[in-house]
Amino acid sequence: ARKIIIDTDPGQDDAVAILLALASPELDVLGLTAVAGNVPLALTEKNARKICELAGRPETRVFAGAVRPLTRPLVTAEHVHGRTGLDGPELPEPTMKLETQHAVDFIVETLMAEPEGTVTLCPLGPLTNIALAMIREPAIVPRIREIVLMGGGYFEQGNVTPSAEFNIYVDPQAADVVYRSGAPIVMMPLDVTHKALTTKARIERFRTMGTRVGTATAQLLDFFERFDEEKYGTDGGPLHDPCVIAYLLKPELFSGRQCNVQIETVSELTMGATVVDWWNITDGPRNALVMRDIDAEGFFALLTERIARL
Ligand code: BDR
Ligand code: CA
Repeated sequence: ARKIIIDTDPGQDDAVAILLALASPELDVLGLTAVAGNVPLALTEKNARKICELAGRPETRVFAGAVRPLTRPLVTAEHVHGRTGLDGPELPEPTMKLETQHAVDFIVETLMAEPEGTVTLCPLGPLTNIALAMIREPAIVPRIREIVLMGGGYFEQGNVTPSAEFNIYVDPQAADVVYRSGAPIVMMPLDVTHKALTTKARIERFRTMGTRVGTATAQLLDFFERFDEEKYGTDGGPLHDPCVIAYLLKPELFSGRQCNVQIETVSELTMGATVVDWWNITDGPRNALVMRDIDAEGFFALLTERIARL
């Protein structure tokens, strides 16, 4: 199975991504590392444990990481995810323990211990923990198999400001470190995730599974879609983070191209913008495989088939 570390700030869509990974035998989840993002760290690490228990996988290792971005004050998104970050279902307080090791140390130690080129990082939130690990031990960078992340946007530029997507906006300095690192990056931007809309009919498929996880997933998505439906008038909400895990399972669901990506870290107006050289106008290094399209029906078919297994 492919070894992955999921770096996450749950978040309803993070939660569904974690469920998808834990339901998939092709993936070996070495650990979940929590970061401050949608809500503060004390909630994201707890939410990560709630989801492991919901999946029936309390042995999964969960680590807490950075409490705030590298240089900027933390910006959160309770207006999207609710006060707990995981509003929707009534999930019990977790009983599984949080690991005592710091998430950044776990990422470094794992990449140094596992054979080179075997561990994939899956960041679903601000890139603070990943950047800190690279700064702490630069020798991890050539050992990373791939970084498959949710973040950014180009034709669909922003969701938190007109020009920036939330994960990159919250910690643009960290994103800059990661995009300059030279590690192979696969990027799932808003251009893809805004095509992965839940819709009422798709949520019904989870509700009618008749399982605890299916019901909880429907409740998570019911809550999550409200924000986009009210704000943008779409049928359903964008299932951002699960696109990362779906790519590992079925890359053929996605298409894009290799290009140069740079992060805006100076202008307050466009802070956190991902400047994607889609047309290869410059000769900058093609540091990311930037996705643009998704087979949304195939994606939801995969997701429902896997969630039904839990
Ligand atoms: C990203 O921001 C968070 O609110 C979601 O969990 C997702 O990772 C989308 O911009
Ligand atoms: Ca997230």
